Amino acid sequence: MTRKPEDPHWKTDFSVDWSRTSYLSRREFTRYLALGSVTMAAGSTFMALRAGIGRPHAAPPRRAIAAIDAVPPKSSLAFEYPAKGHYALLIRHEDGTFDAFSQKCTHLGCSVFYAAHGDKLECPCHEGFFDVRSGDVLAGPPQRPLPRIQLEVANGKVYAVGGGEA
Ligand code: FES
Repeated sequence: MTRKPEDPHWKTDFSVDWSRTSYLSRREFTRYLALGSVTMAAGSTFMALRAGIGRPHAAPPRRAIAAIDAVPPKSSLAFEYPAKGHYALLIRHEDGTFDAFSQKCTHLGCSVFYAAHGDKLECPCHEGFFDVRSGDVLAGPPQRPLPRIQLEVANGKVYAVGGGEA
């Protein structure tokens, strides 16, 4: 590109050959924008349908966790509920009663464990503590209680019948 004497220096330093540059017209840009929006909306709708929005929820499964005698007082037992890979803790208190909670800490998802010496649930990652009977936060960074799993004791066994992590 040759510089005319009246042209400023930047035209040679940052030269653009306007005749060889292709532009998008405003109409084309709007068309591409609309096409992109329609594609995004269709993708979102597809993902929502795939995730089952509007599908009736299945009843929670009833699953035997353990025989009562297999869990001594002041101890815990890990199990999976409501589905495989969703870990939970069954805790047997000193008085023989049971409670169960999701084992996934509500802070950043580490696994909590039953600290029998302090009679609480403890998350080792950032020292989060939960009440062993209610699942409520006692201390540390978690803001929400542990999801409770409903239990039923029948025929010498403890069953999980609902709740927990979805
Ligand atoms: S992940 Fe449990 S306290 Fe942070």
